[in-house]
Amino acid sequence: MESPGRMITDEDKRIRGMEAREDFVRDTWYPIWESKRLGRQPVRVTRLGRELVLWRDGQGQPVAQEAACPHRGADLSRGRVVGGCLECPYHGMRFAADGACVRVPCEGKARPIRADLRVKGYAVRESLGLVWLWWGEQREELPPLPWNHEIPGTGAGTCTATLTWNVPFARVMEGNLDLHHFPFAHRRWAPGMGTWLDPYTARLEGDVIHTHGVMREDDGKPWDGRSGFEAELRVLFPHLLLARFGRRTQALVAATPIDAENTWVVFRYRSQLPLVGGLVAWLLVQTELRFIQPEDYALLRDSEPRHPVRQDFHLVRADAGIALWFRLYERRLEAQRTPSSHAPVMHVP
Ligand code: FES
Ligand SMILES: [Fe+2]
Repeated sequence: MESPGRMITDEDKRIRGMEAREDFVRDTWYPIWESKRLGRQPVRVTRLGRELVLWRDGQGQPVAQEAACPHRGADLSRGRVVGGCLECPYHGMRFAADGACVRVPCEGKARPIRADLRVKGYAVRESLGLVWLWWGEQREELPPLPWNHEIPGTGAGTCTATLTWNVPFARVMEGNLDLHHFPFAHRRWAPGMGTWLDPYTARLEGDVIHTHGVMREDDGKPWDGRSGFEAELRVLFPHLLLARFGRRTQALVAATPIDAENTWVVFRYRSQLPLVGGLVAWLLVQTELRFIQPEDYALLRDSEPRHPVRQDFHLVRADAGIALWFRLYERRLEAQRTPSSHAPVMHVP
């Protein structure tokens, strides 16, 4: 039985229900695909609960549109790009990057094309080796891509990998902000790592959660400034995490909801060690993929409830960053439900 302090209110249930119904944080640029994996062939991806086809137009610019052909619903990702347009595999209708249908072969060239024969699209940009999709209200001018100058690119000394997890978005972000699980969840890879998170600070500046902590032996003394494992994590709400380990290693972890139950995760390491940086980054990514992430995945996938609210947890001091994230998350979802923000998720045009 739950104690009174742990009562789950109707409001909590409502928030949880919202999440399960695929309400994602809006007005955000989400990374949805790796640039290097988008070539001449269209690809189909599910992101933010939508079935999308990604392709490149005549200028090589990425395009994201609804995967179902507006004619009779065929999967446009099975089509091909011809003359800078996407051709449906079923009856050959062609759609331009702006969504307009420009050719209906069965009607001949002379017959006008009905104006409502359009494919819905989303604003996308490409930067830092990733394709980003704007999930939010259409605006005259969209905000710049987030942290564009801080995120490590794909140049020398970097290595990138992506994962698809059967874990809801909020649970992934909770895991990302967690420092003190390491000596337990990843015991085999951190022999001798102290279990005391001290010092630890977490603070909010705008939409950025800053945390800094040191995992070390619990000697009961103030930190000497050297011992232990020091990490600095920043999360640009809701989905981008930049981590610094020591002076020369950085990591990006970006999470994008696939749907309410699944999340796409991008890992990127950068090592600034001269000459061997690329190798070090590759080794770090391999270690993540083979050893660390499977352990996190199993824990997060099976954590209950899958769509938590803060009241489900009994948080401790070392969870302060997670508490800040959930506070922002719940506030943002709440704000999105107010009538003024009920503008439909935008489509271009
Ligand atoms: S379903 Fe796409 S052209 Fe007919
Ligand atoms: Fe972990």
